[in-house]
Amino acid sequence: MPEAAAVLTASHPQGSASNATAVPLLHVRNLDVNYGESQVLRAVQLELQPGTITALMGRNGVGKTTLLKAIMGLLPARRGEVAFLGKSLNKLPPEKRARAGIAYVPQGREIFAKLTIEENLLLGLEARPDRLKKIPEEEAYGIFPFLKDMRKRLGGNLSGGQQQQLAIARALLGKPKVLLLDEPTEGIQPSIIDDIERVLAGLKEKGDIAILLVEQYLEFARRLGDRYYIMDRGAMVQNGKTSELTEESVKKHLAF
Ligand SMILES: Nc1ncnc2c1ncn2[C@@H]1O[C@H](COP(=O)(O)OP(=O)(O)O)[C@@H](O)[C@H]1O
Ligand SMILES: [Mg+2]
Repeated sequence: MPEAAAVLTASHPQGSASNATAVPLLHVRNLDVNYGESQVLRAVQLELQPGTITALMGRNGVGKTTLLKAIMGLLPARRGEVAFLGKSLNKLPPEKRARAGIAYVPQGREIFAKLTIEENLLLGLEARPDRLKKIPEEEAYGIFPFLKDMRKRLGGNLSGGQQQQLAIARALLGKPKVLLLDEPTEGIQPSIIDDIERVLAGLKEKGDIAILLVEQYLEFARRLGDRYYIMDRGAMVQNGKTSELTEESVKKHLAF
């Protein structure tokens, strides 16, 4: 087992799946993040529990992507902490966070256009604890079977929706405990959105992964999300059960 994962799981051999009220899988505490002189996140708090989908909402430019990057270690914390199973990740670089069990599907997918589907998926194996070098076919292609038929095609030749599906499949091949998804429905056709929804609902059902879903498509977030957080100008302004999200909150913080 990689060093970081060993440290992180040693004191919590059962994880927290059996005791969701104990230590959250992921805990962001008082997080400040800057771009140069400008402060973009302000004392952000967030908790993710296994077996749940948490919807992170807010208008453009409020800091949602910045928060995901900071959780992944792509941006440093200026103050505060990102903790995984109760241990601070602050000093770990992105690749160690990935090995520890955090996967990130960036906004706009960022798959490798010049690599084939298969080669893109192979890269997803790098985060795995078991260091597998060969694609486990059932696992890789089970969720989106079209990927198998098209596995020799270049990533760049896929539609936007297919690229999103590839990016999700690649992230899942790392066997993450925390999955960060940045606007997976953005600019994607409805049939593929339904397919992605089915996969995310299935992952939630399995009970061991915590999903953080940044989403502007309100109904999608409402259908999938157990809890929601709303950001405004770099701060969390509201959170609760998605079933209790009011029209008033939507108008105030989300409507354009
Ligand atoms: N690379 C960057 N350099 C400087 N400022 C940035 C950079 N990326 C984003 N920002 C600024 O940080 C703020 C939050 O951006 P972002 O996290 O992308 O918002 P969201 O994902 O909610 O739309 C915005 O004001 C944006 O202009
Ligand atoms: Mg964004």
